Amino acid sequence: MTTFHGLQKGSHVSGSQPLVVHITGARPNFPKAAPVIAALREFPLTQLLVHTGQHYDEKMSEVFFRQLGLPEPDVNLGVGSGAHGAQTAAIMIGLEELFTDRRPDLVVVYGDVNSTVAAAVVAVKMGIPMAHVEAGLRSFDRTMPEEINRLLTDRISDLLLVTSVDAIAHLGHEGAAADSIHFVGNPMIDTLLRHLDSLDTEGVAAAVGVDASQPYVVATLHRPGNVDDPADVAELVKSVHAVADQVPVLIPLHPRGRGRLEEAGFMDHPQLSVIDPLGYVEFLGLVKGAAAVVTDSGGVQEETTVMGVPCLTLRPNTERPVTITHGTNQLVRRDTLPAAVAEVLAAGRQATWPVPPLWDGHAGPRIAEVLAGHLGLTRS
Ligand code: UD1
Ligand code: UDP
Repeated sequence: MTTFHGLQKGSHVSGSQPLVVHITGARPNFPKAAPVIAALREFPLTQLLVHTGQHYDEKMSEVFFRQLGLPEPDVNLGVGSGAHGAQTAAIMIGLEELFTDRRPDLVVVYGDVNSTVAAAVVAVKMGIPMAHVEAGLRSFDRTMPEEINRLLTDRISDLLLVTSVDAIAHLGHEGAAADSIHFVGNPMIDTLLRHLDSLDTEGVAAAVGVDASQPYVVATLHRPGNVDDPADVAELVKSVHAVADQVPVLIPLHPRGRGRLEEAGFMDHPQLSVIDPLGYVEFLGLVKGAAAVVTDSGGVQEETTVMGVPCLTLRPNTERPVTITHGTNQLVRRDTLPAAVAEVLAAGRQATWPVPPLWDGHAGPRIAEVLAGHLGLTRS
């Protein structure tokens, strides 16, 4: 993918069609945006895809564009990593310039990352209508940067696209207008279901040295609450090593915290294999065959729910309680994780499991209908 420092103009000829600008930037944005962009192609409008550059490693960014059939971004702001204020501000500066230049008719933001809130603030101050995909999720934990991003983004969005019923209630309590809330389902699950049958568990397992004929656990860890503070890291190492005493564990490790985990001896266990982040289809191929997943990711809680893979979430709370009530998820602490894994290994995987309402693979088209309706468009 080409990185443009500054703006690349003219990759779409807008003519008189409305301009919809999608804001992506971090790994979880890409599987959410892909089905929306695809479904909007059926309407007479012009789309512009912005990558803020919040994530930039090949395996955190470019691989998703290849594997998910996303178009190459029209604009990459190339902001890179930084402290919250610096990163958010750099995105805002770049987007203000872009929106001044191209004047969108609608801005679409995804999820709860810094790129989401930065775009939302710029759009609302410029009087540009804005839609938030995955609105209304709440962990009620304001120590999480994502919770602040969610609260602020929802408060200023014109269209609130909701993935689960609980989110409707949260938005209602916060005073959102009922006609701004649209229960559309989960676009991340559209992407999963599109790829599910072609995932090659055995092939990926062989490539990363996992024996897929025996139980194994896949883990992902990146939340500040687990990997930023050395005291938390020390507990985490102990906890995950106690899991690896029972079963081989494979961890495609997010770059955040890698250094701290390494220093704390995380990698020093014979049944623990730490590798770089995997591409989307490789990662989910491994998850599909896993006896259990240990994670602090938001999206992985949802994907395991739909795949029926037991998910042990190493967090004190979740903004996705539907994955507990309708899915395979349970919250665990670092001290309870090893026993929880033992239980899950003994119980085995369930033959059937419930799936949350509207996580059916058709959220993208529903979202496109709402967005196009807002612009007064019907299918071309
Ligand atoms: C961000 C999101 C988080 C989301 C996660 C998904 C915010 C506040 N947080 O967290 O909600 O769950 O993405 O993965 O937006 N880094 C690299 N290469 C990259 C990207 C990051 O090495 O391509 C390293 C850098 O050292 C960087 C650190 O990871 O400082 C954190 O990156 P950042 O985007 O700030 O936050 P995440 O922890 O990735
Ligand atoms: N993912 C991936 N490779 C990995 C780990 C995760 O492709 O090595 C995918 C995962 O399947 C999901 C998305 O990344 O689609 C979730 O991103 P992440 O956990 O970074 O963010 P969160 O959902 O916690 O915001």
